[in-house]
Amino acid sequence: MKINILSLIFLLAIIPLIKAQTIPYKDTSLSPEIRTEDVLSRMTLEEKVTQLSGLGKGQGEFGNSNVGIFGTPGNERLGIPKLVMGHGITGVRSGRDTTVNSTYMMTPIGIAASWDTELYERAATAVAKEMVALNQNLNLGTTLNIIRHPLGGRNWESFSEDPYLTSRFGVTYVKAMQANGIICGPKHFVANNQERHRFDINNVVDERTLREIYLPGFKAAVMEGGALNIMGAYNRLNGTYMCENKWLLTDILRKEWGFKGFVLSDFANGVQSTVPSALAGLNVEMHGTKYYGDKLIAAIKNGELDESVVDQLLREKLWVMFSMGVFDKKWKQPKSIVHSDAHKKIALDVARKAAVLLKNDDAILPLNQSKIKKLAVIGPNAKRTSDHPTYYYMQGGGSGRTYHFKNAINNPVDEIKSIAKNTKVIYALGCTVSNKSRETGDKKKLEDQQKIKADKEQDKKLIYDAVQLAKHVDAVVLVVGLHGGLETEGWDREHPYLPGSQVELIKQVSKVNPNTVVVLTGGSFIDVSEWIDDVKGVLYHFYCGEKIGQAMAEILFGDVNPSGKLPVSFPKSIEQYPEGSILIHPIGYSKSNISNIYSEGIFVGYRYFDKAQEDMRFPFGYGLSYTTFDYSQLEVKKINNTFKVTVTITNLGHIDGDEVVQLYVNDQKSSIERPVRELKGFARVSLKAGESKKVAFTLKEDAFAFWSPNTKQWTVESGEFIIEVGANSRDIKLSKTIKID
Ligand code: BGC
Repeated sequence: MKINILSLIFLLAIIPLIKAQTIPYKDTSLSPEIRTEDVLSRMTLEEKVTQLSGLGKGQGEFGNSNVGIFGTPGNERLGIPKLVMGHGITGVRSGRDTTVNSTYMMTPIGIAASWDTELYERAATAVAKEMVALNQNLNLGTTLNIIRHPLGGRNWESFSEDPYLTSRFGVTYVKAMQANGIICGPKHFVANNQERHRFDINNVVDERTLREIYLPGFKAAVMEGGALNIMGAYNRLNGTYMCENKWLLTDILRKEWGFKGFVLSDFANGVQSTVPSALAGLNVEMHGTKYYGDKLIAAIKNGELDESVVDQLLREKLWVMFSMGVFDKKWKQPKSIVHSDAHKKIALDVARKAAVLLKNDDAILPLNQSKIKKLAVIGPNAKRTSDHPTYYYMQGGGSGRTYHFKNAINNPVDEIKSIAKNTKVIYALGCTVSNKSRETGDKKKLEDQQKIKADKEQDKKLIYDAVQLAKHVDAVVLVVGLHGGLETEGWDREHPYLPGSQVELIKQVSKVNPNTVVVLTGGSFIDVSEWIDDVKGVLYHFYCGEKIGQAMAEILFGDVNPSGKLPVSFPKSIEQYPEGSILIHPIGYSKSNISNIYSEGIFVGYRYFDKAQEDMRFPFGYGLSYTTFDYSQLEVKKINNTFKVTVTITNLGHIDGDEVVQLYVNDQKSSIERPVRELKGFARVSLKAGESKKVAFTLKEDAFAFWSPNTKQWTVESGEFIIEVGANSRDIKLSKTIKID
């Protein structure tokens, strides 16, 4: 009897296996192509269409669970798994469930300031593993949009104003994510460069500008990184909504670049039509079902659309799911990996490299503990207060932020206290945290104004206290800047200055204490003109994960030598930007027919300032160190169709340090106007005191090419090119002229 039951159990257990063998799409030994065709052939039209819309019944249903609207539905009958989406841009943001915490690892702008793609690979790998541990399989990111204007709300969530720097970080990220089981979806394709009117703005961009500035990041992510997903942007481009833009979604993305993955729309307002979107190649509508679903079925039934279009849209999605092991639940990570010590250590590495030393008169930094017996640490960002909006302290706002563990973010004050063993550290708030820069309608504006008035009153007292303290200490560190309530998805910043009373605080404190250092924390350009001459030192510590406080303390006291460089230009004033490079409009979104003409063309960021010969406060690529470096022996050798560039870098100082060496190319004579210089290579090199190292770069044909509007092709014209190697875009140390035939 016993034997019989056992045999029965055995039989029941192997039946699914026998069945699986006869069902090709369940057979893991078959190729993703065969499995895709097989499962597709078993689906009804309704089942297929269901797979092409995101979860959530309609706009506005955000849900609170781990998945919420962040996924596509599964199919129980066929065993098709859900896609579970998350944001792995700074750490893991899991749906809207704030109880699912992760390591707050990095920000795009912060990691770009490190110019360290090897570090980014480690950081992105760690985030991918945490996503897997939290049961996610698709990453809605990262942002590859170019920083076109210093007030863009999502600048902190982007890498740079430069397409080459953006491409290198984009490729690194996509590879790290997908090598660890996460389908990676760079966004927002394309020309999504401002937040005001983001749902409907019509960006007018000529083809050369698209090809040279706004597309290269996506192209590299697809062609080099192998990205298997792309998110279509909300905006229109030259009159056509991006999610129904066939030229970009099909002709360029798939046909030219060979993209084999699937495109999903940005959420809620990304899709504007049924048939045009399907024909353009938009695979999945996010979130909920607004234009696909029944409307797609109806379009097929009434002959507007052939079912083969739906098959193709789904084929691409299913193929990715098979290829990435989603059907086979291939990827697993233990929950214990989330916020593990190893991951926190990587976050610390990121934070150490994401700080840019902007000014250091009289070598005020690093602070000397034998001279500074009493130190005042002052400022609203020196410590998280209840005034900082939740999750917005030391990071930007919107979907890219992380729901990190409570108290995970180091407070600079506490970390400074623990490092400065021989120095007495005294803290003062200095002024209130300003969180009132968003445009949220007239009512909110009125409330904001009342709050601003109340804060101003309070600030008088706080600044007075700070000044009294500053008078009696040997040095002052002021930690001021921005936070996620001020620079965030949905809203561009209103002005480039420090918000609230922070400028007043700096001015008054620096008047009574000559040894004042300002640490800025934020994710984009801050105009420093009003106060920079009053202080001896300025460090810009870009948002960079939960270890920012510790890294800041280590840099201030010299345990770590700062090595970051600016991934964006810092002009003297925002007025120096070309007119019309952003639309400033007083109230939030508008459905009116707003066009933004990208009239500056390819001259974005330093390309513009170089052409206009504008004086910079701090040029693109700028950053100081506690040591100095020498550049020598620049050599350029032609090897077949490439140029090998080598240069020797020497650390001239008495302490170890890292230098970010930058390589720019300049076309001497061209049939078309070209930038004064363009970044085409960079390398971070670590040098012990006194040490020299040779750094090598390879320049391929594309480093010399421009997009010809006439021939509609990448073109390299013969003639002379200058190869420049330097410490930043305005500090070229060595150059050599080469000839291309
Ligand atoms: C943002 C996307 C984001 C999505 C889901 C949209 O509003 O633009 O970047 O991935 O929401 O949160």
